[in-house]
Amino acid sequence: MDHSSLRCFGTIPKTHFLLLFSFSIFLFTFTNAAFDLATIPFNDGYSHLFGDGNVVRSSDGNGVKLLLDRYTGSGFISSNMYQYGFFSANIKLPSNYTAGICIAFYTSNGDVFEKTHDELDFEFLGNIAGKPWRFQTNLYGNGSTHRGREERYRLWFDPTKGYHRYSILWTAKNIIFYIDEVPIREVLRSEEMGGEYPSKPMSLYSTIWDASNWATSGGKYKVNYKYAPFVVEFKDLVLKGCSVDPIQEVSGGEICSDQNTHLEAQDYAAVTPLRRLAMRRFRQRYMYYSYCYDTIRYPMPLPECDIIPSEKQRFKETGRLRFGGSHRWHSRRGGRTSIPVVDDTNQGVM
Ligand SMILES: *[C@@H]1O[C@H](CO)[C@@H](O)[C@H](O)[C@H]1NC(C)=O
Ligand SMILES: *[C@@H]1O[C@H](CO)[C@@H](O)[C@H](O)[C@H]1NC(C)=O
Repeated sequence: MDHSSLRCFGTIPKTHFLLLFSFSIFLFTFTNAAFDLATIPFNDGYSHLFGDGNVVRSSDGNGVKLLLDRYTGSGFISSNMYQYGFFSANIKLPSNYTAGICIAFYTSNGDVFEKTHDELDFEFLGNIAGKPWRFQTNLYGNGSTHRGREERYRLWFDPTKGYHRYSILWTAKNIIFYIDEVPIREVLRSEEMGGEYPSKPMSLYSTIWDASNWATSGGKYKVNYKYAPFVVEFKDLVLKGCSVDPIQEVSGGEICSDQNTHLEAQDYAAVTPLRRLAMRRFRQRYMYYSYCYDTIRYPMPLPECDIIPSEKQRFKETGRLRFGGSHRWHSRRGGRTSIPVVDDTNQGVM
């Protein structure tokens, strides 16, 4: 089996799910204009990556389910690579006991550029019954695997009860992670980031897999196959971007400029003042770790960090008051090595 797509941390969950109803109202009042998106059938844009029998296409051809059972996880990959784009899907996560499970929705070119790969991640971390899913976003540029840029969050809804849209916008100027129409993280390209801003063509991947082996606490939160198969459902898939041959594109060429101009003109490519407000509110309330405030790991915040006083105050002096040790899954082929990251061992309720 190809493990190059495997990722994530083990999961050590210990929190309550605060459903802040008023907050959802706030978000949706101000950001409810749905994006204008052209979706594509699964077979037109993607193919299976691994766990073939566990990649189950819907009968209408538009959606797909990824299963994890005791034999294998599964994953899909876009058939093309893109030089900038908007990657999006409506996703419904598995419910009940999902500890030890990792579901990733991400762009990467690790299979093509093993030493200098780029990557943008949504990584959903399963949980024990009754406890909510958590997730993180991360990015790597040009093989910067020694520098993780993780942020971790809770959600303002139950992601197992219905579909929600998870999107990654990636342009030459910025990266925005969206949940539904709420931007939860924006990374602006800065001069100082240099090659660590992802800029080579990437594919879109999604995977579900057993992350038990990397969990801390002696495997206390292993995947429990009594609850298998674990099923994550995708529909309304969006792949918008300039499809390129990665080698050709890296050696130069302006073939993408029209499509990228078009991409940058889309509604979702800009964080409007109202969206910025929603993003601030989300981060103030639901983000529980950001590398930008982790002064133990990064005494000087990395150049793209936009230090917001109210966020900084929440994370106090070190940004990791609530966090225990660290451990990390090591990619066999992704080139990642010893990335110090937090886990959730001591994470309490905010
Ligand atoms: C969750 O578990 C309960 C009890 O085992 C079961 O009745 C229910 O169908 C499960 N739900 C899902 C979505 O699997
Ligand atoms: C990416 O890394 C490679 C190898 O370290 C280096 O040669 C190259 O200049 C870097 N690219 C950018 C854009 O910084």
